[in-house]
Amino acid sequence: MLRVKILHVVGARPNFMKVAPVHRALAARGVSQTIVHTGQHYDAVMSDGILRELGLPEPDVNLGVGSGSHAQQTGQVMVAMEEHLSRTPPDLLLVYGDVNSTMAATLVAAKLGVPVGHVEAGLRSGDRTMPEEINRLVTDRLSRWLLTPSADGDANLLAEGADPASIRRVGNVMIDTLQRLLPVADGGEELRRFDLLSGTGPKPFVLVTLHRPSNVDDPAVLARLMAALERIARQAPVIFPVHPRTRERIARFSIPHERTVLSEPLTYLPFLGLQRHAAVVVTDSGGIQEETTFLGIPCLTMRANTERPVTVTIGTNQLLGNDTDRLQREVSRVLEGNGKKGAIPELWDGRAAERIADLLTQT
Ligand code: UD1
Repeated sequence: MLRVKILHVVGARPNFMKVAPVHRALAARGVSQTIVHTGQHYDAVMSDGILRELGLPEPDVNLGVGSGSHAQQTGQVMVAMEEHLSRTPPDLLLVYGDVNSTMAATLVAAKLGVPVGHVEAGLRSGDRTMPEEINRLVTDRLSRWLLTPSADGDANLLAEGADPASIRRVGNVMIDTLQRLLPVADGGEELRRFDLLSGTGPKPFVLVTLHRPSNVDDPAVLARLMAALERIARQAPVIFPVHPRTRERIARFSIPHERTVLSEPLTYLPFLGLQRHAAVVVTDSGGIQEETTFLGIPCLTMRANTERPVTVTIGTNQLLGNDTDRLQREVSRVLEGNGKKGAIPELWDGRAAERIADLLTQT
C-alpha cells in the first residue's frame, strides 16, 4: 500500500497551512506525493512566503491560473488539471478547504475516476450566496473520503445523505500547523515594528482582517467598517494587514483611514505572532475563527453566519453580522477585560494529519 501515489492540490492562502501537516505525516510513512499549485494565489506574500515558512517542498507543478471571475478561475483550473491528471493519474487526490481550486480539481478527478479525499469536509454555513459554500457542497458530494474537523461536519454530511462509511472525523489540520509553529512565532519583531510594546509587555491591540466580498465589495459597507475601526483606534492600536482585494477596494472607493494601521498582507508566522498577543481579533476569515478559538483570544466575526459553529458554541468567537455599533461595544468590552472565554474543541490536538495518514495508508 505504501506504493500508493497521492496528489495534493492547493491554490489559495488558506490551503497551505492545511496541506503542510498532511504532507509531512504521509512523507514520514514513505508515501509518494506530488503537489500541484493551481496558482489561484500568486503574490510573493500570499503564496511563496507562506509555503517556505511552512517547510513545504516547492510545488511540483504550478498551473499558473491566477485571478479572474469564478467561472474563469474554475474553468482554467479544470482544463489544466484534466491535462495533468490524464497524463499522470494518482491513486488518490487530496483537496483542502473550500476555495475555487478545491472544487475545480475535484470535479475533474471525479470524472476521470480518480478518488478524492476532502480535508475539512462537512462544514456548512447554510449561506449559498458565499462562493465557498457552493464549493463545499460540490466537493463533498464527489469525494470518496470525507475527512471532517468536528462533529457538526459529520452531522451535516449525514443529513445530506453521504455514505457513513466515507466519513472520518480526523480533527483540525490547521491546528496541527498552529501547534507546530507557535513556538517559533513569538511576534517579537512585529510587536516592535507596529510599536505595540510597552514597558511591561505587549500593549492591548486590535488585529483586523477583512476580505469577503460581502464586507469589501460594497462601498457603503466597507466605509462603515473602516469608520468603526477608526473610532476603535482612538481606544487601542488597530493593526490591519490588508488582503490585495481589500486594498484595491479601499483605494478605488477612496475610503479614508488615518489612525488604523494598514499593512501589506503578512505571511503565516508574523501573522500568528501578532494574533497570539492581540487583545481581540476582528475578521471575516474562516481559519482565523479557528485559530483564535485555539489561542483563547476573543474573535469578533463580521459575518451573519459561520461554517465553523464550534468556534461560537465552544470557542471564543461571536458573529456580529454587519453591526458596526455592536463591534465597537464588543471591542470596548474586551478592552475592559470582559472578553468571551472559550474552550478548545475535541480533536483539535495537533494530530489530525497523523490520523489522516494512518487512515490513508491502512485502507
Ligand atoms: C480566496 C478564496 C477565499 C479565501 C481567500 C483567502 C475562493 C472562492 N475564495 O479568496 O475562500 O478566504 O482566498 O485569501 O476561492 N489577488 C492578488 N494576489 C494574489 C491573489 C489574489 O492580488 O495572489 C487579488 C486579485 O485582485 C484577485 C483578488 O485578489 O482578483 C481575489 O482573489 P481570488 O483568488 O479570486 O479570491 P480571494 O478573495 O483571495
